[in-house]
Amino acid sequence: MKIIVTVLVGGMIALFVVVGRLSLADEPTIEYAADDYVICSACHLPDGVGIPGVFPPIRNRVSSIAKIEGGRAYLITAISFGLMGNIEVAGMPYFGVMAGNSGMLSSNQIANALNYAVFELSDGDVTDVLPFTNADVIRVQSETLTKGPGAAAELRKKIVEAAGDQWP
Ligand code: HEC
Repeated sequence: MKIIVTVLVGGMIALFVVVGRLSLADEPTIEYAADDYVICSACHLPDGVGIPGVFPPIRNRVSSIAKIEGGRAYLITAISFGLMGNIEVAGMPYFGVMAGNSGMLSSNQIANALNYAVFELSDGDVTDVLPFTNADVIRVQSETLTKGPGAAAELRKKIVEAAGDQWP
């Protein structure tokens, strides 16, 4: 999605072309690109549909998870420190391990990978999802005590208990 925005500053007109969604007034502009998702696409595929039974689909799901209470922290934790254990996604069981990406991706790149998944790999309306920011990722990473794939598994369990497992 390409958005062209015109910003008027003291009578000067500046034209910015950004890839991504714009955030509100005093928040920084969120910019993300397909590059941010390259590492993920190796497993979840470029269009996010995954490989049934091996790599779960994330298309339409990252945006849905982001709307569930606790979902944003879960996503950041899973991408940063990995995820392991038995999960069920769209009726299909997965028993795999996703390694953490915090060694390879900066906090800003992790935010942008999630923004790419939300805003480019969703078929429905995602205008109500706030973009992930670098600060969001830094905060969740620092609050996560066990920086391994068990942390996200715990969070996921709690979300499933509270909100069911019927994410699309
Ligand atoms: C080496 C393969 C691999 C890579 C690279 C990878 N993942 Fe994963 N991902 C997996 C596997 C396998 C699972 C399921 C783990 C399990 O069974 O517990 C998973 C799970 C997930 C989930 C949880 C889905 C759910 O329904 O709870 C999300 C979200 C996710 N990955 C997003 C990403 C993003 C974003 C990236 C890039 C930063 C990424 N993954 C990179 C293999 C990978």
